Amino acid sequence: MIKTQGLMKKFQSVLAVDRLDLDIPPGEIFGFLGPNGAGKTTTVKLMTGLLRPTAGRAWVAGFDVQAEPRKAKKMMGLVPDQPYVYPHLTGNEFLRFIADLYEVELSYQKKKIPELLEMFELGEMGSELVETYSHGMRQKLVLAGVLLHQPKVLFLDEPMVGLDPKSARLVKDVFRRLSETGVTLFMCTHVLEIAERLCHRVGIVQQGRMTRVGTVAELRSQAAQSGSLEDVFLALTGGDQYRDLLKYLA
Ligand SMILES: Nc1ncnc2c1ncn2[C@@H]1O[C@H](COP(=O)(O)OP(=O)(O)OP(=O)(O)O)[C@@H](O)[C@H]1O
Ligand SMILES: [Mg+2]
Repeated sequence: MIKTQGLMKKFQSVLAVDRLDLDIPPGEIFGFLGPNGAGKTTTVKLMTGLLRPTAGRAWVAGFDVQAEPRKAKKMMGLVPDQPYVYPHLTGNEFLRFIADLYEVELSYQKKKIPELLEMFELGEMGSELVETYSHGMRQKLVLAGVLLHQPKVLFLDEPMVGLDPKSARLVKDVFRRLSETGVTLFMCTHVLEIAERLCHRVGIVQQGRMTRVGTVAELRSQAAQSGSLEDVFLALTGGDQYRDLLKYLA
């Protein structure tokens, strides 16, 4: 459902994404992990057609993102790292706008929008302007928006940031349910517990290069680490610097 071949993005002297090859089957939840500045957000922007690659190709649900952007985009939903919502629309209006954009049938919109607002505990906020929403409320509104048009592939860039524990739990359950119905999820996250519990496979990216990919159990054995995913992650991404820092602080 998501495929990349030699995907690359160069910003002047920075190689943000370095020859990425990925193949993600239907229903998989793929976690993309890596230090700040490793190239995760840039990869999502390339795969969703927001940035043009310097080289290489990306396909979503079989459509080439560069050559057939409209067809590819119709199949996908994106939750960007910043919840981008129009401040002068109400929550209801925002969702209707998104639904119209994706040509969601009106009768389905009328049924689904109140359901989604209710599910994300935004029922009472539906007729309020988005500018009055908190960060977490905006995040949930964006999530409601992507679920509205039933995408086959979801790209999520740090979707849990700013969610309270109950909302985070709800969102995790929703992701699991989507995956069970065949939706493919590509998720950038720094929350290792989520990667460990939710993701079928994870990829670790460093300085634009995906250096490891596999199940958490596979990565653990590669790193010869028996501890938490945090230990494995630090071992694989050169966590020595953290240990040195701790020694320095001690
Ligand atoms: N528009 C841009 N122009 C120039 N350089 C950019 C641009 N966008 C990203 N970069 C650079 O590309 C590299 C990868 O950035 P990116 O935002 O993809 O990292 P990330 O893995 O998402 O990091 P984080 O975990 O902090 O979100 C960084 O070195 C960044 O400075
Ligand atoms: Mg990022």
